[in-house]
Amino acid sequence: MESLEARSDDVILAGYPKSGTNWVGQILSDLVATFEKKTQDEESVNDEDLEEFPYLEVGDAGKFERMNKLPSRRVIFTHLLPDNLPRSIFKSKAKILLLIRNPKDVATSFYHFSNGMSLLPSYETWDDFFIAFMTEKMPWGSYFNYLSEWNKYAADENVMTITYEELKENRALGVKNIAAFFGISLTEEELQGVVERSSFQSMKENSLKTHGALGSILFRKGGVSDWKSLFNEDQNEKMDKAFEEHIAGTKLGRKLKY
Ligand code: PPS
Repeated sequence: MESLEARSDDVILAGYPKSGTNWVGQILSDLVATFEKKTQDEESVNDEDLEEFPYLEVGDAGKFERMNKLPSRRVIFTHLLPDNLPRSIFKSKAKILLLIRNPKDVATSFYHFSNGMSLLPSYETWDDFFIAFMTEKMPWGSYFNYLSEWNKYAADENVMTITYEELKENRALGVKNIAAFFGISLTEEELQGVVERSSFQSMKENSLKTHGALGSILFRKGGVSDWKSLFNEDQNEKMDKAFEEHIAGTKLGRKLKY
């Protein structure tokens, strides 16, 4: 089967659904585009026709063949577990930005998204969704399993982990660190532009253009701790227990603001 031929300069974003993929994806695409704009002459700037939907796992049979022809630097997003990624990603030493978010907020965001989007199973009640989230009956599998699996790679030098919460707390610092990790050298002013264009408000306002009708469902609240509006005490305890059992003692667990 055709697969991705990864390159060492690929910019890869890995994150479980609803952890802020579109947000950090915007930051990465903008960093790369801003750098290319100032370093390439006009003729060699990427042709619009050569663009490909950035999610690795979404596309038709010809997806990888087209991706393999794209010029560097490619920005690639994925919700996949590391074991399901093309091996060339690890062999090529492409850099991976791993994005993680408090599981309670991931669940909350996922619940609202599932009920707003016809392609995903909808849930009668939040309680039904919570059971599914905690019992692996989710598209893309369990988030706790996702964290455990990615934790095996968290110490690799080609993997940088960032949390939704730290980016929310200080976007300017997050953008700077991400740019440094991928070796993208921009001026303070250029970085500031990336920071401004990645605010929740700016992305939401632009969402009809960037995401069509999906935009209004995707850019929902963009905050931290909205889980408090849904979780009851019992659910909170169950989630804390699962976190404690599966993640708390790991590198990713320690990094997650919980
Ligand atoms: S998806 O469908 O899995 O790709 O969703 P994903 O993009 O991973 O996550 C969607 C959540 O990210 C929030 N978001 C943002 N937060 C802060 N700032 C910015 N700019 C931003 N853009 C998107 C989005 O609102 C979803 O979270 P919730 O909690 O539902 O609002």
